[in-house]
Amino acid sequence: MARKTFPRTALAALSAVSLLALGACGSGEASGGGDTISVGFSQLGAESGWRTANTESVKGNLTAENGFDLTFVDAQQKQENQIKALRDFIAQDVDVIAFSPVIETGWDEVLQEIKDAEIPLVLVDRTVDTTVDDPYVTWIGADFKQEGITAGEWVVENAPDAKIFELQGTLGSGAQVDREEGFDSIVGEENIVGKATGNFTRAEGKAAVEAALQAYPEMNLIFAHNDDMGLGAIEAIEAAGKVPGVDIQIVTIDGVKDGLKALHDKKFNYVVECNPAFGDQIADAITKIVAGEEVPKETIVVDKAFDQTITMEEIDARAF
Ligand code: AHR
Repeated sequence: MARKTFPRTALAALSAVSLLALGACGSGEASGGGDTISVGFSQLGAESGWRTANTESVKGNLTAENGFDLTFVDAQQKQENQIKALRDFIAQDVDVIAFSPVIETGWDEVLQEIKDAEIPLVLVDRTVDTTVDDPYVTWIGADFKQEGITAGEWVVENAPDAKIFELQGTLGSGAQVDREEGFDSIVGEENIVGKATGNFTRAEGKAAVEAALQAYPEMNLIFAHNDDMGLGAIEAIEAAGKVPGVDIQIVTIDGVKDGLKALHDKKFNYVVECNPAFGDQIADAITKIVAGEEVPKETIVVDKAFDQTITMEEIDARAF
């Protein structure tokens, strides 16, 4: 069967979902009529400030007080851990499974198992690339390609002659694939002197930039797929005796507090937001699914962008 990549359109497609056909409640006991809804949530890891904020938002909304019985498992950025957690959730016969896939491919078997068990699936944050037909009820996340485009447009406008090094996220993840596609389509491959992954972590981002400083001495702009890798880049650039934000400009994605402080300190030059605080939307979707109500097939979380005019008041007022 041909592999199918699920679309990430800019607008939520309000396609109806046959929840009855899916069997909305795994246990048959929770029905949204006041009973507790059991949810198995496989978070992909704790690799970044964004992820920590996303986990807090999920746990802060899928609470007992709000009617949920949450089993939360951190996969430590390993797909095999996620697959094991998903199979455990099937064995527990939870009412709803939610997960944020670390990479796009490799899920066919377990997605089919979830479907066969008739447990509704909510896809969170990242997307999947699978042969399984209609594997999830709803997906909630950001438009990663648009984030890359927004970053690229700033570079074309403000640093048109830049020699760019692209600090990629986890290879094969939706966030890496789509941000790279969006950014590269705007700045042009010919302006990118090199690329390497920093796996969305500060330590690996720093190591990748240390190597890049040797390999690409001409680079004067780094596009980091997240704030944490950009913060690692600052450390590597300063250790090499250069000035981040001046000798080497830095453009990132996320907009967590540490990243925006670096922007305020003029060590970052531009930050495209990826909002992690959508646990309320996940909780709302799960409640509706269990109640047999229709939900949109896709919900895009709205993002902003920030330049160096950002104030500390704005940063302090943010939730993440
Ligand atoms: O999938 C979202 C990305 O994952 C965030 O941009 C990054 O910080 C995280 O690790």
